[in-house]
Amino acid sequence: MQPVTDPTPVTPQPSAAVAPSAAPPGVAHPKTVRSFVRRAGRTTTGQAKALQALGPRFVLPYAPTPLDADAAFGRRAPLILEIGFGMGEATAHIARLRPHDNFLCCEVHEPGVGALLKRIGEQDIANIRIVQHDAVEVLTHMLPEASLDGVHIFFPDPWHKKRHHKRRLIQPPFVALLASRLKPGGYVHCATDWQPYAEQMLEVLSAERRLANASTDPALGGYAQRPDYRPLTKFEQRGLRLGHGVWDLVFTRRHDG
Ligand SMILES: C[S@@+](CC[C@H](N)C(=O)[O-])C[C@H]1O[C@@H](n2cnc3c(N)ncnc32)[C@H](O)[C@@H]1O
Repeated sequence: MQPVTDPTPVTPQPSAAVAPSAAPPGVAHPKTVRSFVRRAGRTTTGQAKALQALGPRFVLPYAPTPLDADAAFGRRAPLILEIGFGMGEATAHIARLRPHDNFLCCEVHEPGVGALLKRIGEQDIANIRIVQHDAVEVLTHMLPEASLDGVHIFFPDPWHKKRHHKRRLIQPPFVALLASRLKPGGYVHCATDWQPYAEQMLEVLSAERRLANASTDPALGGYAQRPDYRPLTKFEQRGLRLGHGVWDLVFTRRHDG
């Protein structure tokens, strides 16, 4: 893998104002309704060191202009977007398993960014770049149409309360945006451990005309077998031990859509 020759500085992001408001039609996540809250959380010393040492190489600044992915990664390779990587456990695992893909990974939570950078350093991973910013804005402004080979959205915040459902990521306008950014044949892979959200995902993804469900086994009721590349994280293993379910969904962009 070629080294990156054009390091970019880490840009601190302003806090998003979060105010309850109804989304205008066709906009899943207007500026006032975010799919996340900026949690207070301590950045550990190890994460802070990783941010300082590795941020300049692996964190790309958010900019409302199209990203030159080949330049950002220092090579041309299939581009996978991950939305909301948390502490980056699955992200690092998948990036190592799939060295021939480039992973552009969005997360707003700074300790998570530090944690993934730490893994990148410890595991000598070269095919990840991070944008510490709202993935909806990254998709809208930095990623052109038909630019993505895949999208990973693992355990997005379920927003359990009804009055918060508008904050859920997987909604029709957002999925339409996502579909437009996928190349024909590109895939979106979602996973959740919250059954009502799994049902919403299945309904919304199935209703997007540019997408086709990759799971054709009628016994699975529209859900997918967990693809081999997605690891069982510690959190998920614990849930499974407690008898909780997990649902994977994989859809691909139609070639004629
Ligand atoms: C429940 S956590 C799951 C984390 C991880 N994927 C996992 O499986 O452990 C959801 C994460 O998504 C992030 N997130 C939510 N909306 C986001 C957005 N619009 N852009 C970037 N990150 C987002 C949150 O900060 C949070 O860390």
